[in-house]
Amino acid sequence: MAEIELLANLIVAAKKIVVFTGAGISTESGIPDFRSPGGIWDRFDPDDFTYQKFVSSLETRRKQWQLLSLGAVISNIEPNPAHYAIAELYRLGKLDCVITQNIDNLHRKAGVPEDRIFELHGNMQWARCLNCHQRFPMEEILPRIKEGIEVPECPNCHGMLKPDAVFFGEQLPQRTLIEATHRSQNCDLFIVVGSTLVVYPAAYMPVYAREAGAKIAIVNLTPTDLDQYATVVIHSKAGETLQKVMRKVHGKLTQ
Ligand code: APR
Repeated sequence: MAEIELLANLIVAAKKIVVFTGAGISTESGIPDFRSPGGIWDRFDPDDFTYQKFVSSLETRRKQWQLLSLGAVISNIEPNPAHYAIAELYRLGKLDCVITQNIDNLHRKAGVPEDRIFELHGNMQWARCLNCHQRFPMEEILPRIKEGIEVPECPNCHGMLKPDAVFFGEQLPQRTLIEATHRSQNCDLFIVVGSTLVVYPAAYMPVYAREAGAKIAIVNLTPTDLDQYATVVIHSKAGETLQKVMRKVHGKLTQ
């Protein structure tokens, strides 16, 4: 496939690659995405995931924590070949960073170092107190729900605990957003993997990269509004696609 060859050539030529990922990179790990048929927003009401509703309604908090304890934070989920391909870019010295909308921790698990991951929508592996702002590992909090404490409170100050993912209507972590914007504006290749690119400000990142002169590549099962600006677009599954691309990259680097 010519597009696989083209993406491999872009990677070989690039010095500072930013990879931008969405829920589509994790579907092959068993986590549903949001907007594909049967996705999360087909099963749950996004309105229940707003920050305002969480802080103002005990019932919403109870529902949220129940959902989390039912394994929505599926800790035994493993990275798939797409995540490992991105970690391989890091080992080749080609990856500047991963900017992800995902809260599933899979880039870390695949071997991308902490300082190369920017989680724009937070991370579900932690709970944060809205009063004292202390963070607690989710595996410390979730067992309380199984013990019948339906809405856990902060172990430190008894304040309101919230999963550390960004809810609708909640501000994104500002330092992360600023750094992700800077990285997007200073890379030479920006690769989108598994995102509809419809949620802002995250979806501005590829726009910033393009405006700064980077080449854009998109690996996504379905078309996106940014396909028209991309040097290469591959509408197929991320796992098999990135495996093929990395095989070609290795071949070219060892020629
Ligand atoms: N390989 C490649 N692409 C895939 C795969 C796959 N195996 N599986 C799904 N996709 C594509 C889908 O076609 C879709 O275009 O990934 C995209 C996933 O899009 P969304 O479900 O909208 O997920 P995302 O773009 O990450 O959503 C952004 O919306 O609800 C909020 O906070 C949530 O971070 C999320 C944000």
